[in-house]
Amino acid sequence: MDFKNIPGAPENIVMSGIRPTGFLHLGNYFGAMRNYVKMQDEFTCFFMVADLHSLTTHPDTSGLKQNIYRVLAENIACGLDPAKVALYCQSHIHETAELYLYLNMLAYKGELEKTATFKDKVRLNPENVNAGLLTYPVLMATDILIHRAMFVPVGKDQEQHLEMARNFANRFNTRYEPVFPEPQAFNFNSELIKVPGLDGAGKMSKSENQMATLYLADEDEVIRKKVMRAKTDSGPTKKNDVKAPEIENLFTLLKLVSKTDVVEKFEHDFNTCTIRYGDLKKQLAEDMIQFIRPIRQSANAILADEDNLRKIMKQGAEKATISAMNTMKLVREAMKLNYFK
Ligand code: TYM
Repeated sequence: MDFKNIPGAPENIVMSGIRPTGFLHLGNYFGAMRNYVKMQDEFTCFFMVADLHSLTTHPDTSGLKQNIYRVLAENIACGLDPAKVALYCQSHIHETAELYLYLNMLAYKGELEKTATFKDKVRLNPENVNAGLLTYPVLMATDILIHRAMFVPVGKDQEQHLEMARNFANRFNTRYEPVFPEPQAFNFNSELIKVPGLDGAGKMSKSENQMATLYLADEDEVIRKKVMRAKTDSGPTKKNDVKAPEIENLFTLLKLVSKTDVVEKFEHDFNTCTIRYGDLKKQLAEDMIQFIRPIRQSANAILADEDNLRKIMKQGAEKATISAMNTMKLVREAMKLNYFK
């Protein structure tokens, strides 16, 4: 790891978040949650539901509570243990608002306007280009820096936000005093990943592209239907041919959930031009069902006990608040905002 440490900063802090803007999907699992679960035994982990970020694009809060409960339940169903990590809701950490304000003074309009996610969202929803949307990366940097985290398990789509978080941290350290380590995007043993959609165009997503996205809450029949309608082509015409993007995508998904010998068999069939895409899709659908079904069933059981979820959320907020308060003391000292001394 080539991150820059700050003397005295804890070296094993992990932080990440997920917006409650819809049902979680395979991309969230393989890009983020799989890493959360692997990291919880070795690191001090802060994982949150990013409800404030969701307000930048989803101002209607009528379904927000249920969505937050679902994200919490799905995280636990995937193996996250609330006793080992701080599992909390972003808006419960009030210190976030203060650090967000300070970091906003170090973020420039030009760089925020150039952010890829900002440009995408402006294109998708030109009616609601609010200041919160523009400063989305500042809020995300705040979530990370408020715990002085070094490792941030995320998918490839968050890479630019992490680069911005490092810039804000460095600017703060240079202008005031060194407080923040440089956070790094993290994926266990490999590059950051992007889980493709079943349509071969784009990625799985909570709110767009729903028929091409496999959700952790999808019933068996829905999974079968989505996989079987995935686009294919007429098959390879020469040995060891290059795969078309939609075929490559199916293989990417197969590698995520199927056994190695199954993947090898279909690779061999493709390379020898004997592949039957119908068989590939049937196998993929069944392996997806085996993967998703236990998560779905467990999440539904966890969701049925709301008292327990509230207890978990409260405990998580308590742990995260202690960490945030400690960081804010350092921040105010570094900025010399300590007028009573
Ligand atoms: P969000 O809610 O869009 O996604 C949650 C996590 O899932 C990953 N992800 C994917 N990974 C691979 N393939 C995909 N198709 C795919 N789709 C989503 C995302 O990379 C992310 O890790 N801005 C963040 C939420 C956030 C945050 C933070 C993350 C707020 N504060 C602090 C880390 C640290 C977001 O919108 O993620």
